[in-house]
Formats: sequence, C-alpha cells, structure tokens
Amino acid sequence: MPISWALLFIQLLSSTAVLGVRQTTQSHLRIVNGITIPISFAPWQVSIQVMGNHICGGSILNAKKFITAAHCLNLPAHQLQVRAGSTFRNTGGQLVNVVYAKKHSGYVGSPYKHDITLLLLKRKLNLSYKANKIDLASNSPYDGTTAFVSGWGRYVEDKNAFTIDLRIAVLSMIDRGTCQKSKYAERKMKITKGMICAASGGKDACQGDSGGPLVANGKLVGIVSWGLGCAKRGFPGVYTDVAYYRDWVLKNMDTLGS
Ligand SMILES: *[C@@H]1O[C@H](CO)[C@@H](O)[C@H](O)[C@H]1NC(C)=O
Repeated sequence: MPISWALLFIQLLSSTAVLGVRQTTQSHLRIVNGITIPISFAPWQVSIQVMGNHICGGSILNAKKFITAAHCLNLPAHQLQVRAGSTFRNTGGQLVNVVYAKKHSGYVGSPYKHDITLLLLKRKLNLSYKANKIDLASNSPYDGTTAFVSGWGRYVEDKNAFTIDLRIAVLSMIDRGTCQKSKYAERKMKITKGMICAASGGKDACQGDSGGPLVANGKLVGIVSWGLGCAKRGFPGVYTDVAYYRDWVLKNMDTLGS
C-alpha cells in the first residue's frame, strides 16, 4: 500500500474509531439509506481520488474549476485526481489531474470551520449531460427546503461499506439556529456561521461523501462537511453553507488561474 494512501486510511480509521468515545470528535461525513442513481442525475458530482482511491466528493463549477471541503485536502493538490462523468467511482468518465488548490484561509480542522476549497484542473473537462457545472446558491435555503445529497461514501456508519455506484438521499434543510438547538447543543458542538444542516429520518451523508454536493432548487447549497455519526437521531448532517461563501468563491475562482 503506497504510504500517502496508507496515512489517509489510518486517519479515516482513527476518526471513526474515536467517534463513540470523544464526543467532540467529528466524523467525515458519508450516503446512508439513499438510492443509486446514474451520474446524469447529478452530473456536477465528481470523485476526488488519490492513486486510484476515492477519498471525497466534489462539484463542477466550470470545465477546470471544482469545489470541495477543505478537510479533503490533507495532501498536496498535485497528488489528487478528479473523476468526472462516471456513475462508478473506480472506472469510466474523465480522470484529470489537479494542479492547484485554494483552501479558505480561515479553515481549521477541529472542529471544522470554513470547510471549503477550490480546485484547479490540469486540463479542461469535456462538459456533457454526464459532467456538467452547477450554479452556486445566492441565498441560504429556508428551513424545510427539500435538498439532495449524493456521493460514493459509506452506506452504513460502522462498516467499511463504501459504494461503487453513486447514491443520493433526499433531505430537508434545517437552518443554523434550529440546528444549533439539536443534540449538538448538549454536546457543546457549535453550528457556527457558514454552516447549515440537513436531515431526514434515517438518511444522511456518511464517511467518503465529504466535499460532495447538497443541492436544492437546482443550485449548490451545501458541501458535505461533518456530523456526529451518520443518520443518528438528533444529529443532523452539517454542511458548508455555500451562499455564505459565495463572494469568497467568486473572487477566488477569478484568481485561481486558468
Ligand atoms: C475531451 O475530448 C477530447 C476529444 O475526444 C479528448 O482528446 C480529451 O482527452 C477529452 N478530455 C478529457 C479530460 O477527457
């Protein structure tokens, strides 16, 4: 096993292992109780990979620029690849090298804050019905808005059960204030500005879905960020609130290079 992947894998294992013990530890998020879909249903979805292994999701902003979670970038950008346009994380579509990543300068790892990063690809993707861009939301979605999260992450919290084909789950948005009053409050886990939540009985993102898209009304409203466990009652999935970072994204997309 190559060293860098081994390290990542250990990080993944350890973050899972401490979940039940240290209540403030966040898991990387993941799709529980979703259904499989072809990539054409979520053509903005990409898989971010390290030496052929899926590590995170991401979304296409244009043919060369992508958005994901900052916590997905434990390695130098040039060690990453993006697979776009495939229903399967391990085959098909277009596989392109990443050349540069712009992490939010305020990003902190524990607990995650400003969990947002832009990626620049080496070559342009060929956009099609299977690989297409998505627009950023201008406003944070209202409480109760229907939203879709997709990814290749775990479909069971405690098992090493990663999916090969893409899954999606239908969720309901929860605004920041309401989310802060959930069981996260009891655990003294803060839902800070720039975060937004979503949940639906038994459905959630899970490990391996991190960085991936949460979409409402055809716009990107969230980036899979963290949660305590997966689909645990009282602990909604927490997402980076895309509308909150819209200006940051637009400004940094311009300076990312071409
Ligand atoms: C886009 O299509 C062209 C022509 O078929 C091909 O040469 C190129 O490799 C494709 N780009 C990617 C990123 O796969």
